[in-house]
Amino acid sequence: MNYKNNNFYIEKIKAEKLIKKYGSPIYCYSNKSLVKNINNFKNSFKSFNPLICFSVKSNYNSTILKIIKGHGLGADVVSDGELKKVLSLGFKPNRIVYSGVGKKFSELKFAINKNVLLINVESESELSNIEKLAKMFKKKVNIGLRLNPNIDAKTNTKISTGRMQDKFGLSVSDIIKILEKFKNSYHIKIKCLSVHIGSQITQNKPYNNVLIKISKILAKSKFKFEYIDLGGGMGIKYNQNTKKLNYSKLSKNILKFSKKNNCKIIFEPGRSIVGNTAVLLTKVIYIKNSINKKFIIIDAGMNDLIRPALYNATHDIIPLNRKSSKNSIPHDFVGPICETSDRFLKIKSYQKINEGDNLAIKDVGAYGIVLASNYNLRPRPIEIIVKDSIVKKISKKQNLNDII
Ligand SMILES: Cc1ncc(COP(=O)(O)O)c(C=O)c1O
Repeated sequence: MNYKNNNFYIEKIKAEKLIKKYGSPIYCYSNKSLVKNINNFKNSFKSFNPLICFSVKSNYNSTILKIIKGHGLGADVVSDGELKKVLSLGFKPNRIVYSGVGKKFSELKFAINKNVLLINVESESELSNIEKLAKMFKKKVNIGLRLNPNIDAKTNTKISTGRMQDKFGLSVSDIIKILEKFKNSYHIKIKCLSVHIGSQITQNKPYNNVLIKISKILAKSKFKFEYIDLGGGMGIKYNQNTKKLNYSKLSKNILKFSKKNNCKIIFEPGRSIVGNTAVLLTKVIYIKNSINKKFIIIDAGMNDLIRPALYNATHDIIPLNRKSSKNSIPHDFVGPICETSDRFLKIKSYQKINEGDNLAIKDVGAYGIVLASNYNLRPRPIEIIVKDSIVKKISKKQNLNDII
């Protein structure tokens, strides 16, 4: 995705053409970016050949999932719906891990009957439900224990999951207790220690701290885990100020760890696979001059992309038609929703902009459409994907009358 002669292109298609044809707001993915990310992730960690289970919560569009599956990835799911979806798309159960802090009895029953690779357990009560079901079905169920390592991922607090105060995972002492209790269990086979400390992590240190913590648990428990699941969380570059995770150093460290402990590594990346593969194309409806700033009112709202409102996330907004002229006054890009938090970005200056201009909100492939809603009774945007010069619609338009 880039400019050619000052026009923004998604692969070989001029983005403005897409708005003309499909309307706006609209999510638009690039096939090439997606494939590049998958290959980059695989290559970065190829020295220890991990099982890469794509985190379906970040994007569950069927076409996107099929491409991901086609490149050999498994799936990390967090609900019945996600599990049923990936199974329906042909993901193999032995490449699916099931995470989540509140799996219901019926959800566990379904997953056990489908023989997923691992159910990552987050509480003792969950484990005893699994044991009941395993006895009922006369099965031995493969389990991962999700550790809460009490490590700060140094990311936005709302997407931090590995601190003691966060609801996720089991403490070290609970894990040691469970290992002791279930080591000879006929129905529970503990195969994995899993951990996921947060999302949009841009520093290596928290991952290194996780490896140190796990090493201590392995030494203390003397338990042999077949898998260590290190979760996802790898950050992406949303703007110039974002730091970049050093994959090469991370990979070397994990290789050392996996050799020493003779275990297979699982990853559950979401954002790093799909985050920068899509833009949200949108149109300026009105421009309103206020004291010391301009409100640029666009036709995408927080119902279409909630990340800025929910997490104070920053997504760059670029014009589809680039000009050299500048307007040196703060611009506040806001949506049409009746909420003050329906704001996307405030920047000090922007190119001269007019009502009717077309823009792209960048890096919306992860936690974008999956978090879209019908708030203010607005239909969710459709999604399209571009491959070279071919454009394909990949989700159905919601009919306004249906949602009314
Ligand atoms: C258990 C688990 N695994 C993986 C992920 C994916 O994280 P990310 O999209 O940051 O890679 C998440 C998301 O928070 C998660 O909760």
